[in-house]
Amino acid sequence: MPARIVAFSGNTHRPSRTRTLVEAVAAELSRLRPIDLKVYDLVDAGTAIAVAGRSALPLPAARIVEGIESADALIVGSPVYKGSYAGLFKHLIDFVAPEALVGKPVVLTATGGGPRHALVVEHSLRPLFGFFSAQTAPTSVYAGDAEIAEGRIADEIVRARVAQAAAELARLLDAAQGAVAPTALPVAAAR
Ligand SMILES: Cc1cc2nc3c(=O)[nH]c(=O)nc-3n(C[C@H](O)[C@H](O)[C@H](O)COP(=O)(O)O)c2cc1C
Repeated sequence: MPARIVAFSGNTHRPSRTRTLVEAVAAELSRLRPIDLKVYDLVDAGTAIAVAGRSALPLPAARIVEGIESADALIVGSPVYKGSYAGLFKHLIDFVAPEALVGKPVVLTATGGGPRHALVVEHSLRPLFGFFSAQTAPTSVYAGDAEIAEGRIADEIVRARVAQAAAELARLLDAAQGAVAPTALPVAAAR
């Protein structure tokens, strides 16, 4: 069975560098393993996602949250906004059930306007997925404006990191598929 992969990007405009980056990781992964890929971004979620409860989410956004929860592995990306992940990216992730990502392999990616906020993947995204007890790939990928042009990765080092992250995701998927599912922490311990 192909692995069910969800790539989710926190972009609010298209074309999007962040979407290009998550798609690049997915393309590399597809060279290594058979995958069934769904790519979503915040534009797919629609404009009515500013709700407080999951039951009030519009259907397209609810489907993204369900897709994230039921995937075998995730490739996530966010544009850097004010030194961190985008607020609406976090807003959608806030609807994901705390136990749904336990042990799930995840690649972390982000794009920004320049090199200064490259560590947002380590300082913002990794702790967020640490909350969920997800298995994040050791290699995360960040690209600045100059490194993605016309829908393509224009930088050799970013390309190499994309390939490395995809290879790590493939190995994490193999391990997750052969392993006994880890148990979620009791909710009180996760909070
Ligand atoms: C509201 C806003 C805040 C931003 N803040 C940052 C920032 O703090 N650091 C940075 O490097 N880039 C910042 N940027 C630039 C975007 O992160 C960058 O252009 C990104 O690649 C856009 O991704 P997208 O093409 O997927 O929308 C900001 C852009 C916007 C619109």
